[in-house]
Amino acid sequence: MGGAATMLVYFQSNPDLWTGLIFSAPLFVMPEPMKPSRVRLFMYGLLFGIADTWASMPENKMVGKSIKDPEKLKIIASNPRRYTGKPRVGTMRELARVCQYIQDNFSRVTAPFLTAHGSADGVTCPTSSQLLYEKASSEDKTLKLYEGMYHSLIQGETDENANRVLGDMREWIDSRVKKYGKK
Ligand SMILES: *[C@@H]1O[C@H](CO)[C@@H](O)[C@H](O)[C@H]1NC(C)=O
Repeated sequence: MGGAATMLVYFQSNPDLWTGLIFSAPLFVMPEPMKPSRVRLFMYGLLFGIADTWASMPENKMVGKSIKDPEKLKIIASNPRRYTGKPRVGTMRELARVCQYIQDNFSRVTAPFLTAHGSADGVTCPTSSQLLYEKASSEDKTLKLYEGMYHSLIQGETDENANRVLGDMREWIDSRVKKYGKK
């Protein structure tokens, strides 16, 4: 959700303020199994927002699909402050709405960006990064797909994989600083 929130801030600000964007497995396209059913949202919608806080949308077992490294999964899954209930009606409706808005506005992206995704991401499918890469107007755009990696590219992969992703991000930043930074 951080990627979608960043993109919304980007759309609401002066694009010249931004020297670059890095997205780690952003959610811009809802994967089919996560998409809320239109009928369901319509029915809840008839309740004038009363249902928005109901945790009654189908669950997607996200943590296991996010974290690939079994040791890290154990630690993250046992965090007592982690939300383990079902998604709320209002959350899913807004996610669907915001994803649509972002997809309709991909062409407004002009800043240099790097978008990274694991090919085995079961939470936000790589289509999100691929569509941004295809449709953005930015001249300087980079898509990195990591074979077999899950959603959480930095906290959830083995140290070796996480360091590969971080290394690519660092390299992207360094080369942009050289290219566009003040001499
Ligand atoms: C941005 O998205 C909104 C909502 O889908 C749409 O009405 C608008 O035309 C889009 N703007 C651009 C520049 O494409």
